[in-house]
Amino acid sequence: MKNKLEEIARQSKEAIAAAANPEALEGLRVKYLGKKGELSAVLKQLGSLSSEERPVIGQLANEIRAGIEKTLAEKNAALHSALLERRLRDEALDVTIPGRAFAVGARHPLRIVWDECVDIFTGMGFSVAEGPEIELAEYNFTRLNTGEGHPARDRQDTFYFTDDDRVLLRTQTSPVQLHVMESTRPPIRIISPGRVYRKDEVDATHSPMFHQMEGLVVDKGITMGDLKGTLNTLVRRLYGDDAKTRFRPHHFPFTEPSCEVDVQCFECHGEGCRVCKGEGWIEVLGAGMVHPRVLSGCGIDPDEYSGFAFGVGLERLAMRRFNISDLRLLFENDIRFLSQFN
Ligand code: DAH
Repeated sequence: MKNKLEEIARQSKEAIAAAANPEALEGLRVKYLGKKGELSAVLKQLGSLSSEERPVIGQLANEIRAGIEKTLAEKNAALHSALLERRLRDEALDVTIPGRAFAVGARHPLRIVWDECVDIFTGMGFSVAEGPEIELAEYNFTRLNTGEGHPARDRQDTFYFTDDDRVLLRTQTSPVQLHVMESTRPPIRIISPGRVYRKDEVDATHSPMFHQMEGLVVDKGITMGDLKGTLNTLVRRLYGDDAKTRFRPHHFPFTEPSCEVDVQCFECHGEGCRVCKGEGWIEVLGAGMVHPRVLSGCGIDPDEYSGFAFGVGLERLAMRRFNISDLRLLFENDIRFLSQFN
């Protein structure tokens, strides 16, 4: 029986040393120390021993049980620390590796100027109105005092959707004036930036699609002085206090009187150069006092109310703002150009 016990001690030691994981170890614990384990099987036979042998073998069995328990505990601890070490190694995180930088885009120069204009006008109490790009000829022309057969309709030929020429891509943001005057009562103070379309050949200053920002103020006692003050404020806030403007008499069917506003050329400061085509000035917008017929067409009494309106070319403003000498750069999506506005 002594031999048997020593055999168990030896075998268990070897088996425990070879155990590869906690599950195998648990299997060995059951095999040697469990109720139906090998040690118990031997101890069950203690009764058959003589009274001299029994305590000796009993003590030996207890020592062996304690030995196996100790070996199991040590191996268990070793397995767990090895496991932990492996996890630490596998899941290692180097917090010193530089992060991956996200490429941040830049606002398009047109958008920058658009946002600046909105800021300047909302600062003066204007709100932003929106209108459709697909418009009725009635709004784009007729009710802006530009009836059928009016020569101004030819100059702004555009894309028509229907054979009867009723629906078109708007050629100007001015029809938004009508939508606003139809749906709200004075006092009115709105701007409306957006895309417009014309049958223009592409060159350094023209594109068949471009952007305008319409402005409309209607209230009691509005004068040309309000118009000048507002537009001069726009130009000075955009280009600096020393920016010079020039108001030239002009004709628009929907304003009376009408004017065009030029800003002094940024390239030659009025001397005349390639950018301003020798003029010394660059035209940036059309404006005027809202025609009484346009007001009354929207149910606003022109004897009680007056107003001014303007339409700014946003590309022209952006070109002057950033010294861009060719409008095509704004639409070619060349990243080398666009990333300069970061
Ligand atoms: N819509 C005109 C254009 O495209 C610009 C314009 C002129 C707008 C006078 C106005 C205005 O609101 O009053 O050339």
